[in-house]
Amino acid sequence: MPFTPFKLFDSLPIEPRLAEIWRRFESLSFVGNQMPENLMLVDFFARRVEGDLVECGTWKGGMACAMMAAVGASRDYHFFDSFEGLPPADGRDGQRAIDYQADTASPNYFDNCRADYEAFHRLVHSQGVPAERIHIYKGWFRDTLPAFPADRRISVLRLDGDWYESTMDCLTGLWDRVSPGGIVIVDDYDPWDGCARAVHDFLSRRGLASRIYRTPVTYVPYIIKTD
Ligand SMILES: C[S@@+](CC[C@H](N)C(=O)[O-])C[C@H]1O[C@@H](n2cnc3c(N)ncnc32)[C@H](O)[C@@H]1O
Repeated sequence: MPFTPFKLFDSLPIEPRLAEIWRRFESLSFVGNQMPENLMLVDFFARRVEGDLVECGTWKGGMACAMMAAVGASRDYHFFDSFEGLPPADGRDGQRAIDYQADTASPNYFDNCRADYEAFHRLVHSQGVPAERIHIYKGWFRDTLPAFPADRRISVLRLDGDWYESTMDCLTGLWDRVSPGGIVIVDDYDPWDGCARAVHDFLSRRGLASRIYRTPVTYVPYIIKTD
């Protein structure tokens, strides 16, 4: 029988603790009203599955800090970003992505999603997580992902790099490091065609039958690693 995602509830009681974290960090993040359900997923999986938390595509650090606030100081966090903004979109990302990047005067351009490295570094190091538990990888994913330590596993992998190649690089580089039962949140699956294409190309290439699940209210897309 065909399955299409459907809306289960009109609203979900958001744990006050997570709502407070959302309020604190929403101005430093593009995640918007999907942040509370992101945090519910992050909190749930980080507490049940062995491994570190990883975000690929951090921008100013709003979601990175929110994850640290939700899960706490006893875990390791890995943050990957170019701090030079997005790489050029290409045909796999679709015309809308190419047009977005060409329209540098648009109020939605945000300097091509460029964030300042020093400001990010200061911010994530002021959240009460010991410095030795915070790992920042500055540069293009394809160059920095191999530096993810060989002995570490991942409980929560948040992909937020917008484009096809960025998403594919992260899946190729980190999928095998996600613990069984761990979660991969795919932030850009809905807004950007290239991201959705990369997810399906990757799963297909690896012969995986993984489903794209959705949270009930804001439809945050995620995969639970079972294979
Ligand atoms: C939409 S922003 C991330 C939003 C962020 N997670 C938040 O909480 O708002 C996308 C980020 O991905 C980074 N990025 C995209 N592709 C990349 C790549 N191939 N290598 C490194 N960084 C990349 C950009 O620099 C940008 O900061």
